[in-house]
Order: sequence, then structure tokens, then C-alpha cells
Amino acid sequence: MQNLIQSVLILMAVLMSTRGAEEVVYTQVGDSITLKPQVMDHSQKYYWHWSFGNVELASLNPYGKHFSSDKLWKDKLSLSDDSLTINNIQQEHFGKIVCDLRLNRITKETTNFHILKISVTMKPPSPLLPGEYLSLACDAETQNNQRPQIHWLNPQGMVYNQFPVQATRQHHGQWTCVVINNGKENKAKVSVTVVDLSPAPSRPQYTSKVSPLNVPCSIPDDISWEQIKARDIQEVHWDFFPKSGSNLPSERLFSLSLNNSLTWNPDQNKGLKPAKDPKTKNLSLTKRLGREEGRGDYVCTLKFKSGRTLSSTVHVEVMQIVSSPGTDLISGQQVNLTCSFGHPLPSDLQLKWTPPARSSLIPDPHRAHLILPAVWTGDGGRWKCELQQNTTLLAWAVIDLKIEPKLSLWMLAIICSVTVIVILLLIFVIILYRRRQRKRRHLRHRLCQCKNPKPKGFYRT
Ligand SMILES: *[C@@H]1O[C@H](CO)[C@@H](O)[C@H](O)[C@H]1NC(C)=O
Ligand SMILES: *[C@@H]1O[C@H](CO)[C@@H](O)[C@H](O)[C@H]1NC(C)=O
Ligand SMILES: *[C@@H]1O[C@H](CO)[C@@H](O)[C@H](O)[C@H]1NC(C)=O
Repeated sequence: MQNLIQSVLILMAVLMSTRGAEEVVYTQVGDSITLKPQVMDHSQKYYWHWSFGNVELASLNPYGKHFSSDKLWKDKLSLSDDSLTINNIQQEHFGKIVCDLRLNRITKETTNFHILKISVTMKPPSPLLPGEYLSLACDAETQNNQRPQIHWLNPQGMVYNQFPVQATRQHHGQWTCVVINNGKENKAKVSVTVVDLSPAPSRPQYTSKVSPLNVPCSIPDDISWEQIKARDIQEVHWDFFPKSGSNLPSERLFSLSLNNSLTWNPDQNKGLKPAKDPKTKNLSLTKRLGREEGRGDYVCTLKFKSGRTLSSTVHVEVMQIVSSPGTDLISGQQVNLTCSFGHPLPSDLQLKWTPPARSSLIPDPHRAHLILPAVWTGDGGRWKCELQQNTTLLAWAVIDLKIEPKLSLWMLAIICSVTVIVILLLIFVIILYRRRQRKRRHLRHRLCQCKNPKPKGFYRT
């Protein structure tokens, strides 16, 4: 029932506004508006006349278009078949614009457009630092004491009216003041800048002795160095805090000199290299290969003269492969390989093992802990453990296993038997030799007896 009454009211309003119609248009300085009168009788070829006070703004007839040469309006107007567009509205353009549709010099239809101003104020003027208070206010002029409804939309497009608000990065962007008059929405926009660093990666950065290290830090694309300098920046630096439990001290790695050239000065660079040109707002550090002592937190800080600081912390983990019982092995031995990160692996990351090419072992390639029940010489060489997210390789680690062949039982048996045979042979040869010597001595002895003179009388006569 209520809906029906509303529809009837709207219909009546439309009907009443046909001749000498009044329209209210809200806009803000700098915006553009398009005015389009309602035409009742489309069958007529009207002459269109647009005016502001006694200035003829534009006209449209079968012979062409004509625009005012008044310097306040020049180059600001454009006409289509049924509307007038005013670009880059200035303070002086607010007021009443009349559109007459004429036939034979007689006005048939008139529309009065009341151009009313929306004023938006922002306190303090941008840019803000996170934690500072932001106030936005939106004011709209009124026509016949008809107060329009006003509300704000935040950069995410949600209604938001609680000011002042403590600024966060979420508040950065375009806010919209919505002015609703007679059911018609008019919008005024304002850009709020909240200076901040790009968010640090939510999970650790991985590296190893054989894979590179990348420690990201950057200023978002939509914030310029000029905006940061406008807030009186005092220092930009990188610090390193070793993983708790290690006895290493924390250290300042780099400081940025904030003169016109913006250059990094190393304090304790630890083999790290800053991205080439800080002017590009890329403040990342990189290193060709990681090191175990590089495990810990890397903090990128912007410090302002007001005492406020912005910082982003990157956790760095070092991958390594541990072999139990070691890397010098004998074939047949059981070996456990563990790919470790110093903390449990996030579930969105996967591991992949690659054994040496000649290895015939096909272990479960996605487990951090590999149990190789027995290794053979072919399993010797480089084992690789890769850390992947979907198919992107994040980091990898390697270990070199040396595997010596083992003397097996039957080989031992052969060696022993050969030794025994050799010894037996030797003994046999010695015995043989000795025997022969003894025989020869015996013979010589008999020969000698023969030479001796035979006892007489022993001869047979
Ligand atoms: C920043 O620079 C580093 C090293 O030069 C590069 O690896 C990285 O991709 C850059 N980051 C961005 C966001 O451009
Ligand atoms: C390998 O791991 C298994 C199970 O965790 C364990 O029983 C075995 O003793 C380990 N072997 C070595 C050589 O560390
Ligand atoms: C990557 O993984 C994430 C979750 O682990 C998933 O949401 C996403 O769709 C994957 N992307 C591709 C390209 O597979």
C-alpha cells in the first residue's frame, strides 16, 4: 500500500514537472555535469536554448551548434542532441541554468536546473600517517530549505560516517560523499592518502646456502617519495634481528641518505645488496646465496620527525638437509634425510625431493623426512630438496652423500679361502723342498761309503 502511494506521488511529481520543470543538480568544484531536460513531445524538432542569467550558453538548431564566447564558459561546454555537458565546474558556475525548447520562436518547454554545490573538507589535508586522526565533512547547499540526505562511502564502497577515524592503510583511497535529493544520487569524491609501506609477506622468505635470499620492502605504487618527504621523514633504515636462541647481536644493515640522490649507506651489509634505485620505491635487499646465520627478522623502517615510525618485518628461514648418520656412508646402511626450515612448514607449501640421477631409490618425494632403508653406491651424489608453492620454486637445499662399497660376506670368504690356499701351498712347497734336500744328503752319504776301501776278505774268491 505504502509502495503504491509512493509510486503515485513520484508519478505526480513527474507529471507536474513537465512544463517549467525544476531540477536540482549537486556537484563539486572541478567535476563535470550533464544536464538533460525531460522532453514531453519527441515528435517536434525543437530549437534548444541554454542560458545562465542573461548569458546565452549554447544553442542547438537544424543549422548547427552555437556556444557562448564568454570567457567564464568558453571551452567548458559541449552539446549532444538532448543534453548539455559542463566540464570542470568552477565556483562561478553554480546557480540556475535554463533550458528552453522553442518552436517558431515560442518557448514550448522550460527546465530550470539549479546547480548546487557540495563542499568536501578533509582534516588534516592528506597525506596522513597510520594512527593519525582523519575527519571528513560534506556540506550541500539547499534549495527551498530542502535538506538532502548525506552519507559517506569509504574506499571499499561501504557506508561510513564515524569521524574522526584513526587512519590505517584501509582508509587510503577515494572516499565518496553521496548526496541524495528527491531520490537522485549525486556524488563528490575526495582522495585520502595514508602513507605506509607495502605489507610484508605473511609467511617467511626461504633461502639456503645454495639458493638466493630476497627480503622485500617497498613503498606502494600510489604513494610518492614527495608525499613521504612532505611528512618530514627523518630516517630510512634496515635492521637485522637474529632468530631468538642464537647469541648473535642485532645489527643495523643499511641507512638511506635522504638528500636528493637517495643512496644507501652500508653499516653491516652481511653480503646483502639493496635494490638498485631507491627512487623507484623498491627498498628490497637481496643476496646471491643465503647463510645459516642469516636466519631471523629483517626490519625496514621509515622514521618521521614527529616520532612516528612505519616498519615492515620480513622473517627469513634457512633451509638445510640433515643426514643421519652423516654424509660418509657405506653401502647397505640405513640413512635418514631431513629437509628442515627451523619451524613447521605452512600447509600451502610443498616439498619435492630429487635423488641423484643414478639412484634407483624412489622415496616418497613430498615428505620432509626421508628414510632410505639401505643405500648403495649409485645413491651417492647430490640430493636436492625443493620448496614450492603450487608450481613456483621458492628455495632449495642440497646435500652430497659419499657411499663406499662394503665387503660382503662371500667376498670375505673368498679372500679368506684364497689366503688359506696360498698358505697351504707355501707350506706344501716348503715341505717338498725340505724333503728333497734331505734325500739328496742321504744319497751323497751312500756314495761316500762306496768310495771308502772295501774290507778285504769280503770279496768272493
Ligand atoms: C625490487 O628489487 C629486487 C632486486 O633488485 C627485485 O628482485 C624485486 O623484484 C623488486 N621488487 C619490486 C616490487 O619491483
Ligand atoms: C631413521 O628414522 C627412523 C624412524 O624415525 C628411526 O627408527 C631410525 O633409527 C633412524 N635411523 C638413523 C640411521 O638415524
Ligand atoms: C595455488 O595454491 C593456492 C592455495 O594453496 C590455491 O588457492 C591456488 O588456486 C593455487 N593456484 C594455482 C595456479 O594452482
